[in-house]
Amino acid sequence: MCVKHRNLTWTLALLFLSGALCIKMNVTYQLGHICAVKGSSVVIPCSYDYPKEHKVEEVLWGHEKYHIYDGPFLFDSAMKNTTSRFQFIGDKEHNCSFLIHQIENNDTGKYAFRFITDKDKFTGKYGPTLKVVDLNISLAKLNGSRSFKEGDSVNMTCTNSCDGGHRSSIFTWLKNGEPIHEGPVLYVSNISSTNTGNYTCSLKTQRATTSEVINIDVEYGPRNTSVSIIPLKEVDGSYFKCICTSNANPPVENYTWFKIDENDHLIVVGNQSVISVSDGGQYLCSATNKHGSQNSTVIVKFKEPFNRGLLLIPTVAVLLIVTTVIAITREQQVDSHHDDGGVIYSTVCSYYKKPKLNVYLGLLSTQRTEDINQQRL
Ligand SMILES: *[C@@H]1O[C@H](CO)[C@@H](O)[C@H](O)[C@H]1NC(C)=O
Ligand SMILES: *[C@@H]1O[C@H](CO)[C@@H](O)[C@H](O)[C@H]1NC(C)=O
Ligand SMILES: *[C@@H]1O[C@H](CO)[C@@H](O)[C@H](O)[C@H]1NC(C)=O
Ligand SMILES: *[C@@H]1O[C@H](CO)[C@@H](O)[C@H](O)[C@H]1NC(C)=O
Ligand SMILES: *[C@@H]1O[C@H](CO)[C@@H](O)[C@H](O)[C@H]1NC(C)=O
Ligand SMILES: *[C@@H]1O[C@H](CO)[C@@H](O)[C@H](O)[C@H]1NC(C)=O
Ligand SMILES: *[C@@H]1O[C@H](CO)[C@@H](O)[C@H](O)[C@H]1NC(C)=O
Ligand SMILES: *[C@@H]1O[C@H](CO)[C@@H](O)[C@H](O)[C@H]1NC(C)=O
Ligand SMILES: *[C@@H]1O[C@H](CO)[C@@H](O)[C@H](O)[C@H]1NC(C)=O
Ligand SMILES: *[C@@H]1O[C@H](CO)[C@@H](O)[C@H](O)[C@H]1NC(C)=O
Ligand SMILES: *[C@@H]1O[C@H](CO)[C@@H](O)[C@H](O)[C@H]1NC(C)=O
Ligand SMILES: *[C@@H]1O[C@H](CO)[C@@H](O)[C@H](O)[C@H]1NC(C)=O
Repeated sequence: MCVKHRNLTWTLALLFLSGALCIKMNVTYQLGHICAVKGSSVVIPCSYDYPKEHKVEEVLWGHEKYHIYDGPFLFDSAMKNTTSRFQFIGDKEHNCSFLIHQIENNDTGKYAFRFITDKDKFTGKYGPTLKVVDLNISLAKLNGSRSFKEGDSVNMTCTNSCDGGHRSSIFTWLKNGEPIHEGPVLYVSNISSTNTGNYTCSLKTQRATTSEVINIDVEYGPRNTSVSIIPLKEVDGSYFKCICTSNANPPVENYTWFKIDENDHLIVVGNQSVISVSDGGQYLCSATNKHGSQNSTVIVKFKEPFNRGLLLIPTVAVLLIVTTVIAITREQQVDSHHDDGGVIYSTVCSYYKKPKLNVYLGLLSTQRTEDINQQRL
């Protein structure tokens, strides 16, 4: 290095009365501090110099977390690593600029350039300090809290702390990874379940960057509570299976089936989505989650009796039914997994194969109570 050359220089100086022949080896970093958003790519500008008679053979970039002379190095031109996130974009003249792709949090710290010539080696001082930041989202809601309910409005603002208070970055907003908006603020008004999703922002020019995730999960009480009826071949004296379904967020935690007696009293007959019906009568299902409950939009009416009473139906009636049923049964044999036909079966079958004869779906206006206060993110 130069110390080594100094003797020579002094010699030369004495010989030529000049002290200007020592060209020091040096490395210059144009930036002292570099701030980058996680996921982005960043260039560390750098230039270097050495005596003209030297020829550069190897260039290396190191990080303060490793040994400055012995490495390991992030980049070493003597190694052919093509998959590395670290790329030397300089040359073997005077440009030692360094490119880091997909910045990670642990790329934080000081970097140094080292080069080896045919005559000497030189490592620059630890130079530029890289700072890695996340994009942040701040929420502006009328109601302050981070919870969302239907009808709420929220402004989400993306900030890049590398901008140091100036809004110089251009942002893209994404919902579930799909770009939906460009600009620093995403304004979501009159929130409904269609706004449910994961929101992030990223730098428009650096799509690999991403902010924290804001999850909008609009909760609501049960909706579209309805009942479907599946005719059964007699199972334990039951002839129909009734299934109650409802859309709710969070999902329905409690289904309650009621039978409505002659005095319009409600009797609980089931606490699951499915009940088996063996008696005639009127049935109603109610679905509940923490935000409220909703009754099924229909009351299921089963005509009495469709059980043993059937067997007592006068022969004439049976014959009448049988004639109508035979045609129906033919159509329906496709779904019938049982092969035990016969008059009685066909008659009974008509009751559970053709529920229209026995089931009346009476419309009941949807009643709904909702706890609008507790919906939360
Ligand atoms: C590096 O060397 C060049 C050429 O000798 C010189 O012009 C420059 O001032 C030096 N820089 C530093 C920081 O020493
Ligand atoms: C080159 O890649 C190998 C394996 O991927 C790794 O062990 C080595 O440290 C890398 N060297 C440099 C200089 O990046
Ligand atoms: C060094 O090379 C990079 C990439 O080619 C270029 O962007 C940069 O301007 C160069 N720096 C100098 C000082 O020439
Ligand atoms: C840096 O972090 C990444 C993941 O975030 C990890 O894969 C990698 O091994 C880390 N590198 C070092 C040197 O700790
Ligand atoms: C950005 O968010 C990170 C965590 O996600 C936090 O550590 C940091 O303090 C936040 N910065 C600002 C400026 O809010
Ligand atoms: C959101 O921003 C718009 C336009 O700047 C403003 O009119 C509105 O009041 C803001 N809403 C909230 C909840 O901050
Ligand atoms: C704010 O939220 C609370 C509970 O989440 C609710 O009771 C109140 O009505 C809300 N206020 C406004 C203005 O939306
Ligand atoms: C909010 O959305 C609901 C339906 O989701 C709609 O009925 C209502 O009119 C909307 N309100 C405003 C102010 O846009
Ligand atoms: C949102 O993120 C959460 C947690 O990572 C995940 O469970 C959920 O499926 C995501 N939602 C969507 C709509 O992608
Ligand atoms: C309720 O059903 C109607 C039509 O069947 C549908 O348009 C609507 O999206 C459903 N609502 C919910 C919350 O599933
Ligand atoms: C279901 O809800 C009803 C009324 O809403 C309640 O009486 C009953 O205890 C609940 N059952 C279960 C298992 O949570
Ligand atoms: C469901 O219907 C029953 C009987 O008509 C009624 O007492 C109850 O209040 C209804 N529940 C809801 C949530 O509408």
